[in-house]
Amino acid sequence: MSKEIPLIPRITTLSNAFRFVKNPLPVLNGFVEEKGEIFEMYMGGFTKAIFTTDPEIVQHVMQKNNRNYRKSEIQTKMIAQFAGKGLLTSDGSYWLRQRRLIQPGFHRAKLAALSDVMLKVVQESWKDLDKLVVSNQPFDLSLEMTKMAFQVVAKSLFTTSVSDEELITLSDNIQEIQEYIVKRLRQPYLIPWFYLSGKSKRQFKISQESRAIILRIIQERRASGQSHDDLLDMLLSARYEDNGEGMTDTQLLDESLILFVAGHETSANALAWAFYLLCKNPEATKKIREEYQEVVGNRKVEFSDFPKLKYTTQVIQETMRIYPPAWITDRLANESEDIKDYHIPKDRMFAIYIYGLHHSKKYWNEPEKFKPERFEKENMKGKPSFAYMPFGGGPRLCIGNNFAMMEMQMVILELLKRYDFELEKNQIIEAMPYVTLQPKYGIKMKIKKR
Ligand code: HEM
Repeated sequence: MSKEIPLIPRITTLSNAFRFVKNPLPVLNGFVEEKGEIFEMYMGGFTKAIFTTDPEIVQHVMQKNNRNYRKSEIQTKMIAQFAGKGLLTSDGSYWLRQRRLIQPGFHRAKLAALSDVMLKVVQESWKDLDKLVVSNQPFDLSLEMTKMAFQVVAKSLFTTSVSDEELITLSDNIQEIQEYIVKRLRQPYLIPWFYLSGKSKRQFKISQESRAIILRIIQERRASGQSHDDLLDMLLSARYEDNGEGMTDTQLLDESLILFVAGHETSANALAWAFYLLCKNPEATKKIREEYQEVVGNRKVEFSDFPKLKYTTQVIQETMRIYPPAWITDRLANESEDIKDYHIPKDRMFAIYIYGLHHSKKYWNEPEKFKPERFEKENMKGKPSFAYMPFGGGPRLCIGNNFAMMEMQMVILELLKRYDFELEKNQIIEAMPYVTLQPKYGIKMKIKKR
């Protein structure tokens, strides 16, 4: 006899629809509180989805029996129609072949070459940040971090091959497309209006505009025959094991665009939340600065320093526990099966509620408190591995996880070295789950030179 998965009645979902559109987190957290680690809910009133915060079930779906699970059409069709068919938006044998091809390019040793690129991006941001120091006006740190993270991905991919104007166009377009996708997901009843009003057509237009910029860069790079030690070089030189050939221009274009989409807003949000938490916890800021002095001192930070910056790493880990940029992900069952006595029908969607896992009282002592030390090795002993999964898990683990960790360390360290951050008083900080978990009204700060 299989156990029944508790169901949130349709009427409860409907009566919460308004609150859900405003902010799904409190509604979902309330359901977790009431029903526990697994429950079913109607999505958009019709399709049932299983929400889970049970690390054992999550591990089964994402890792142990991952072959029985695929991504939903939200990722493989809806995001893909604007961002193209890349690692994040593909599935099955195509995805596996691409992953095998691209994975070596993200190994730690390969990333060493990018640490200088990242350092340069941070140093270039000083121009704008110094102006903010002089103006002494509050500014939205999440916007600054979005600019920074976009530059990091763009320069890591294309080093010098892209102009400032093209970067602004790419950044604006990707931002607008992401906002449009979220609106379509949250308010599907507006889709006919999007078509009638021309909003939908505009997304295709700006998507084409971005693709044209990237294609130009790829074709020029191919023709130049020059080497730049960036991610584009890595993508261009990668060869499939089976036929020894490289990717076509369209594949290169899709994979590059996906790296922008997957790799900039996630890091930007993690960084904005990190600085917010550091402002609220000045003793942690002090410890990071002391660690930096001890490990790096007055010389330039190097790739080999990062593994030694243990406390800084723990602050980043704790930030992504409290505010996981990827707050949810999904999978659909290819075939029916039983997990922990629950019957999972074929094609049923799993909503893996990462935010819920990271805030579960069962796995985290005082989950709402900022305690980077909880990531010390001995404190993590015995914890289920999928209780913490900011980068996902199993074979589809974020390919950019080491890249992102290095980027976040670099930005936090280099900015704390130069500036003091001060949180504006009397502002509302609310975590809002769009595609990534963002501060709904931004995070207003002032900065001073140290
Ligand atoms: C703090 C920063 C980041 C977070 C929290 C994050 C989170 C994630 C998560 C949770 C997944 C798995 C989604 C799933 O399995 O459904 C993922 C996949 C992915 N991420 Fe990241 N990511 C970050 C930064 C980056 C960066 C910097 C890049 C690239 C430069 C990147 C590229 C990708 C790609 C290509 C995938 C798809 C991998 C695949 O399915 O094979 N991410 N990311």
